[in-house]
Amino acid sequence: MTDPQRTEADARPAAVLKGLGTYLPPRAVSNDELSERLDTSDEWIRTRTGIRQRFWADPGTATGDLAVEAGARALKSAGVDGVDAVVLATTTPDHPCPGTAPWVAARLGLGPVPAYDVAAVCAGFVYALASAAGLILTGVAERVLVIGAETYSGILDPADRNTAVIFGDGAGAVVLEAGRADEPGALLGFDLGSDGEQHDLIAIPGGGSRQRAASPYFTMQGKKVFAQAVTRMGQSSTALLERLGWPKSSVDRLVGHQANVRILHAVADLLDIDRERAVVNLDRVGNTSAASIPLALADAAGSGELRPGERVVLTAFGGGLAWGSTALVWPDVTPN
Ligand code: ACO
Repeated sequence: MTDPQRTEADARPAAVLKGLGTYLPPRAVSNDELSERLDTSDEWIRTRTGIRQRFWADPGTATGDLAVEAGARALKSAGVDGVDAVVLATTTPDHPCPGTAPWVAARLGLGPVPAYDVAAVCAGFVYALASAAGLILTGVAERVLVIGAETYSGILDPADRNTAVIFGDGAGAVVLEAGRADEPGALLGFDLGSDGEQHDLIAIPGGGSRQRAASPYFTMQGKKVFAQAVTRMGQSSTALLERLGWPKSSVDRLVGHQANVRILHAVADLLDIDRERAVVNLDRVGNTSAASIPLALADAAGSGELRPGERVVLTAFGGGLAWGSTALVWPDVTPN
C-alpha cells in the first residue's frame, strides 16, 4: 500500500520495518503489591502516572534473556531466520563488559554478525533504529534486528517510592530491511539530540569509572525530568514533522516513550494532536525504558488501534539527557 500524500522524492533508499516482536516476563506486579511495602497507594500511582501494573523478571532472568525472546518473535513476525547485524538498546546490560548484543545474536543462531549495544536510556530504541538505518544506508547490512530490552527491577532501590513504582521489565524488537522510502514501514527521517549539562537528572551514580563506590541504584529527579520530557519530545517531533513536510494534523498516531500518561497528553497537546491519538500502554507495563516504544507499537498494532497506512510518529526521551524521533507509514505487519 502506498501513501497517496507522498512525493516522487521518496523513492530514495530507506530502512523498512518488516517485523515486530515482544516479550514480557510472566510476573505482573500490581500497585497494591507495591503499596504493601512502600509509602504509596494505587490511587497515587494511577492518578500521577497512569500506571496500574508492571512486569518484573525474577532475579535469575537477565536483560539478554528477554532480548532473545523478543528477537526470536520479531524474526518470526518478519518471516526471516537471519540478519546481517544486531543492535540492542539497553540501560541494564547483562554485564558492564562485554556488550549484551553479541551473546543475544549467538543465542539466536545468527552467526558472526556485527552486534553491539546502544546506551541512550529511554531514548535508546530510537537511537538504535537510527544506528541500524545507518548500517543499511551505508551498505554494511541488508537486514538488521533492533532490540530494546530492560530489567529495571534489578537497578531500582526497593525503598525509593519515587522510582520503584514507575519502571517495569520487558523487551521489544523489530526487523529492518533495505528498501525504498515510498514503501510502508520506511523510516522517513530522524531527529536526535542530547543535553549532557543535565546528566545528573537521571543517573545510576555508581558502577562506572567516575564514582566507583557510589550507589548502584537508579535515581531520577522526577519533576525536572517531567518538564524536560514534554519539551524535548514536543520539540523533536515538531522538528521532524517540519523536515518531512507532514502537517501535524496528518499524524494518525503518536507513539511516545511510555513514562507517564500526563507527559504523553502534554506532548499531544503541544503537537495539536487529539489526546486519543497518543498510544498509551504504560497502564499495563509501566515505564520499560528502551523497550517502551516497541512494546507500545505492538500493543497498538495488535489491538487494531494502529492500522496499516496510518502515519505514525515515534518520540522518546530519557537519561543523558537524550531524545529522538522518527516517523513512518505503518506497514502490514503482525506483531508476534
Ligand atoms: N507515592 C506517593 N507519593 C509519592 C510517590 C509515590 N510513589 N512518589 C513521590 N511521591 C510524593 C513526593 O514525595 C512528593 O511529596 P511532597 O510534596 O510531600 O514532597 C509528592 O508526591 C509530589 O512529588 P513529585 O515528584 O512532585 O510528583 P510528580 O507529580 O512530579 O510525579 C513522577 C512524580 C511520577 C516521577 C513524575 O515527576 C514523572 O513522571 N516524571 C517523569 C518521568 C520520566 O519522564 N521519565 C522518562 C525518562 S526515565 C529514563 O530515562 C530512564
